[in-house]
Amino acid sequence: MLRGIAFFTDSFARGEVTVFDTTLRDGEQTPGIAFTFEQKLEIARQLSDIGVRTIEAGFPASSKAEKETVAAIKKLDLEAKICGLARSVKTDIDACLDCDVDMVHVFIPTSDIQRENTINKSREEVLNITDDIIRYIRQHADQCMFSAMDATRTDWDYLIRVFQTAANAGATIINVPDTVGVISPSGMKTLITRIAREVSCPIDVHCHNDFGLAVANTIAAVEAGASQVQVTINGLGERAGNADLAQTVMIMESIYRINTGIKKERLVETSRLISRFSGIGIPPTQPVVGENVFSHESGIHSHGIIKNVATFEPGIMTPEMVGHRRRLTLGKHVGRHAVFQMLSDVHIEPSDTQLDVIVEKVKAIASKGKRLTDADLYEIADSVMGIELNHKMFDLEDIAIMTGNHVIPTASVKAKVNGKEFIFSSVGNGPVDAALHAILGITPARLQLKEFNIEAISGGSDAMCHVTIAVEDEHGKIFDASGSGDDIVLSSVEALVNAINLINRK
Ligand code: KIV
Ligand code: ZN
Repeated sequence: MLRGIAFFTDSFARGEVTVFDTTLRDGEQTPGIAFTFEQKLEIARQLSDIGVRTIEAGFPASSKAEKETVAAIKKLDLEAKICGLARSVKTDIDACLDCDVDMVHVFIPTSDIQRENTINKSREEVLNITDDIIRYIRQHADQCMFSAMDATRTDWDYLIRVFQTAANAGATIINVPDTVGVISPSGMKTLITRIAREVSCPIDVHCHNDFGLAVANTIAAVEAGASQVQVTINGLGERAGNADLAQTVMIMESIYRINTGIKKERLVETSRLISRFSGIGIPPTQPVVGENVFSHESGIHSHGIIKNVATFEPGIMTPEMVGHRRRLTLGKHVGRHAVFQMLSDVHIEPSDTQLDVIVEKVKAIASKGKRLTDADLYEIADSVMGIELNHKMFDLEDIAIMTGNHVIPTASVKAKVNGKEFIFSSVGNGPVDAALHAILGITPARLQLKEFNIEAISGGSDAMCHVTIAVEDEHGKIFDASGSGDDIVLSSVEALVNAINLINRK
């Protein structure tokens, strides 16, 4: 560990901070997102499985469907505690209680701008409502979190009075929301230090990302004594979103050495699940979980990584820790060492001169903006080295797919595997899923599809698409391959067949 960092964060080592996830509530308020009932249940199971302490399952008073969902999530009887959100009115609290939640999260706006323009109550009235509503909640529930909405823009002397009122009335934890994401990390540290000194109650923090400071502000709050953080998967949430769970957790675990109870090796998987359900992609450069986080292209970097992975990675966060994978990628900056490593991994050993030609060809293709997969590299190497690839293990002869609004998507495949003909059918969640399952069904080796990305190359409903996939063989080695065309299913099939032949190349 770098000495400066170790020195600064030593005082936090082995401390504990609990994780409160609001993907299902604030996250679902992301414009354009609406999880289905089944997706919400699956998200709740996933969050609980990875060690989230409390799940904010929704806002029961907002609709009948929302109330039924929160109640159903509570009935799953998960390890995580289930929380429901409520405004400071009894009907909202009752809606939460009807769902039998473990915790009621009640909020009221406290900044002058929100107080005057949303609930039109005086400062004294807000204090009285806070006192009354928390006493009411505590008559019926063991756990009550109180949020002073827009806390950071509230007059801080008044904010302290609000939090003291909440604590005296029985709030079990107080939440400090930076509702419009305007505080700075040093401001947050000053505010939380003051609240910790003047209010005797555990502190939770909820930061929005309007200026990109949500994670930094959350960490600053932890530095000042907050014992719980509110986060969402992939930073979903109102406007620019909330603090991202993966980033917040990894900063605490790896830099501060604070225990969060999160199964870090499941972070990438969780991020991908939410990306699939929300329809919001993960940018390649997204910290911790993005595709590029452990990818190395440039000559100097790849060379360093081949010698010692900590040269150009943090070291205190490895791909294995977060369920990611390290990759040397093929771009215009690729170097000889990386290309040689990638080829020798699959027992292709070019001479020095052959390697120079292969690297030049890779760079030339990549400079034209084309992304190269492992399959492309092997093909280039084969042609430069004069290897005849006349044996293809998997030869697709026919594929038929049936899909529609009243049929279960089904695919039937006829193919020759090592010269022998096979026919197999499979159903799936969609036509692509069915087709890929049918192909895997007649592939003798046990292969696992690890990644699947689809990209439209041109616009319009007749757009060309490019599918890239990553397939893991029986020995845990991952191979990339791609397929393209104007048909999503056939491009996906092509990518998978390419991967199978790549893995079984002779
Ligand atoms: O951003 C916010 O203030 C909120 C509250 C409901 C906590 O989401
Ligand atoms: Zn919020």
